[in-house]
Amino acid sequence: MKRPVYLDNNATTPVDPEVAEEMIPYIESFYGNPSSSYSIGRSNKEAVEKARIQVAELINCQPEEIYFTSCATESNNHAIKGIAWANSHKGRHIITSEIEHPAVTEVCKYLRSQGFEITWLPVDQYGRVNPKDIENAVRKDTILITIMHANNEVGTIQPLEEIGAIARKNKITFHTDASQSVGKIETDVDKLGVDLLTIAGHKLYAPKGIGALYIRKGTKIENLMHGANQEKGIRPGTENVIHIVGLGKACEVALRDFKQIRQNMQVLRNRLLNGLVSQLGNQVHVNVDLENCLPNTLSVAFENISAYALASFISNDVLISTGSACHSGETTISSVLQAMKLDFRAAAATVRISTGKKTTEEEIDIAVEVLVNAIKKLT
Ligand SMILES: Cc1ncc(COP(=O)(O)O)c(C=O)c1O
Repeated sequence: MKRPVYLDNNATTPVDPEVAEEMIPYIESFYGNPSSSYSIGRSNKEAVEKARIQVAELINCQPEEIYFTSCATESNNHAIKGIAWANSHKGRHIITSEIEHPAVTEVCKYLRSQGFEITWLPVDQYGRVNPKDIENAVRKDTILITIMHANNEVGTIQPLEEIGAIARKNKITFHTDASQSVGKIETDVDKLGVDLLTIAGHKLYAPKGIGALYIRKGTKIENLMHGANQEKGIRPGTENVIHIVGLGKACEVALRDFKQIRQNMQVLRNRLLNGLVSQLGNQVHVNVDLENCLPNTLSVAFENISAYALASFISNDVLISTGSACHSGETTISSVLQAMKLDFRAAAATVRISTGKKTTEEEIDIAVEVLVNAIKKLT
């Protein structure tokens, strides 16, 4: 069995071979500019439009509501700054949560420096926002609510349908960073009631360097970039055809194999947890409510263990990530675990293990064995 076993699929996923195969002709032969009117340009334009349909089908929107970007960070920036700038005459208040990715948090901090007011909502012990807190935070000058769909570190799924209903009732634009949920759980823009939604290619088996932003038709938004007329002038710049084709195929595969992918990730995540609990008993503490969590994600603390030491110790055999960072002997706890009010020891002992669609039972059994042995040595 090939080692290390990769169990960090929330950080990034390998490119699916079907996706790679679809991209190859665009790397090797089809180099035309989609804006050119001759055939090698036109065929690339058609490839981009096919990909737009494939992405739209996965999240149940119209193809013309999809804009290709370079990554989730760009999509979040475009959504949040674009809505803020387009609506600043109406108000300057934005609602977000304490457990967003820096690609949202830092954008909000930047806007605060530009005179916007940000309300950072707390979460419960499992990392969930309470919709009642949203309702209470809404003001006359609120122009945007931005709450992620599922958290990257702990996997907790947010009550977006309820938040969407509050946003609609109050006529407030609603954005979600769905980088971690698209392809793992159902992500239907109408059911969720969102106006903007961020997609990250490399979290769903497309390559790094490609993302998309869903913008509901009729939403008033400013550009981040100005240039020619690609993406209807909303996101100008010659299209990254190779990666767009890859993202389109990845979305097609995610929709086609949805049930099977979800089940594989969940069954194996649960096998991992059961294996750990059966050998380590109550040394294992699950940080979230697994009923309301991404099917592939396990945020778990091992009593009396330094997560950082554990992840480094096993890194030739199993790859996982931690909820803390260690610099010059000092441990810093992630803002997500802080917001969940995990005590310092539990947070410093927390690892994130995330299965993928290609993870196998054999890999999980190796991971359990490696983790249990390492924990026994390090305790
Ligand atoms: C929830 C979430 N949002 C945004 C990002 C940023 O993605 P990228 O670095 O591809 O822009 C990530 C990546 O880890 C993420 O997990």
